[in-house]
Amino acid sequence: MHKITTLNDLYIQELSNLYNAEERILKILPLMAANVYSAELKETLENHFEQTQLHLERLEKVFRNKGINPLRRKCAVMEGLVEEGKSVLRTSAEPLIKDIAIISHTKKIEHYEIAGYGCAVAQAKVLGEFENQDILQATLDEEIESEEILTEIAEDTLTNNAIEEWEEEQVL
Ligand SMILES: [Fe+2]
Repeated sequence: MHKITTLNDLYIQELSNLYNAEERILKILPLMAANVYSAELKETLENHFEQTQLHLERLEKVFRNKGINPLRRKCAVMEGLVEEGKSVLRTSAEPLIKDIAIISHTKKIEHYEIAGYGCAVAQAKVLGEFENQDILQATLDEEIESEEILTEIAEDTLTNNAIEEWEEEQVL
């Protein structure tokens, strides 16, 4: 059990938590990408898979800079989000609705990461680890950007779907 006494202890725990979370995200993203209908959404999830590999490498660099290894930590929140994500993938909703469900779930994952990286960036700054601060900020920026792209796709999908339904109603 990692004992937290100092801000550095807390920071190491935060980084280790993010490391385990990213490892779990790396496993669920290909499943998400394989189950979506929209080509744009598929591409976004595939891009985020590649970014996630980079996020892990960046965390490894931060640990190297600190001269330590990640703590063996299980991110219980991400474990739960991944489990819930698998049940989203099993739903038999029509394709566009399933896409919206997958986007909604992926956004929850992104928000967890944004919170974690936001805190880690602030902690790195206070600890005077300016190189690590920049490395973590680069990932934070990508997480925020991914979340925004997902929001745009969801809005477009919802709008288009609503129009299709309206048109179907007119034909009946
Ligand atoms: Fe990430």
